[in-house]
Amino acid sequence: MAFAADRYERMRYRRCGRSGLMLPAVSLGGWQAIGGYRDDEHSKRIVYTAFDLGITHFDFANNYGTPAGASEALFGRLIPELPREELVISSKAGYRMWPGPYGEWGSRKYLIESCEASLKRLRVDHVDIFYSHRFDPDTPLEETLGALETLVRQGKALYAGISSYPDPHFSNAVDIVRARSWAPITIHQPYYHLLAREAEREVLPTAERAGVGVIAFCPLAQGLLTDRYLAGIPTDSRAAQEGGSWLRSTLTPDRLDKARRLDVIAKRRGQSLAEMSLAWLLKDPRVTSVLIGASSPEQVRTNVRCLDSPPFSPADLTDIDAACA
Ligand SMILES: NC(=O)c1ccc[n+]([C@@H]2O[C@H](COP(=O)([O-])OP(=O)(O)OC[C@H]3O[C@@H](n4cnc5c(N)ncnc54)[C@H](OP(=O)(O)O)[C@@H]3O)[C@@H](O)[C@H]2O)c1
Repeated sequence: MAFAADRYERMRYRRCGRSGLMLPAVSLGGWQAIGGYRDDEHSKRIVYTAFDLGITHFDFANNYGTPAGASEALFGRLIPELPREELVISSKAGYRMWPGPYGEWGSRKYLIESCEASLKRLRVDHVDIFYSHRFDPDTPLEETLGALETLVRQGKALYAGISSYPDPHFSNAVDIVRARSWAPITIHQPYYHLLAREAEREVLPTAERAGVGVIAFCPLAQGLLTDRYLAGIPTDSRAAQEGGSWLRSTLTPDRLDKARRLDVIAKRRGQSLAEMSLAWLLKDPRVTSVLIGASSPEQVRTNVRCLDSPPFSPADLTDIDAACA
């Protein structure tokens, strides 16, 4: 399989915190884009387009796809055609994956069993990043982090990460692994986009202080921060799918109005709303990468154009904040 010879020329790679790992500024998530609600051949075209554009990082979790695990299994079928050493593949465990008391949250039992199962589905002997997908209030943090440490020591994961850990649990996690000389928390994956700024309060400052990289998930608010829903809900959109009821519930008149006002600013800047939304996140050096989803190769191409974004003037930034308020 021949991939674009110039694939490393257009993408920008950013250091993940103070680690040695470089991530593409734009990464692709497998939740819906790979093994989601499109067929395998379509997902494959999205993956290959992404890789040709220099997207080397593909993000999964045990429960992505329909049924849960389908995203990893589909990517596992593609792996033999992809150069494994050029890829950063991540997976996570935290949400319900199998029945019974060991099928979710943050116990050592669940995390290690789940990672083993992900490796089998992905058909690899290690993932590059393995995450605790959510903070577990009932399991000692030492146990969850100890499981990540074990996976790294066993070579089943190269780096450890956490996702959606609010403070103080994020800073506690950093302190615990440091005190015990365990695998450092290399990356945090928070929910972060123009209309959801909670990560700015504690996650970004803690990440900067601790030298942890940040990859923003749902950077386009599942499509709200694109032109997708500005004039109604298209029948082929994620929100129109059977499982799209939560997304539909977020498409309120107020949020759509904000998206339309942001779209006016994006047009004034000569770019699409999707490009502006991603460029806005990436203007912060603490954000290592934006973790996009896409339902077509064209969406991936558009989103990577955020790298050619004009700089934000102080007036742009003020107008953007006003539109989001
Ligand atoms: N850690 C966690 O707890 C967590 C949770 C959720 C997600 N994630 C990660 O984040 C990844 C991305 O999530 P997401 O898919 O919700 O991200 P997103 O980038 O916010 O939304 C992607 C959706 O936006 C629309 N879109 C994307 N580019 C577009 C464009 N240029 N023009 C018009 N519409 C466009 C598409 O909707 P249509 O499908 O309607 O075309 C696409 O499916 C996931 O795959 C997963 O890896 C992590």
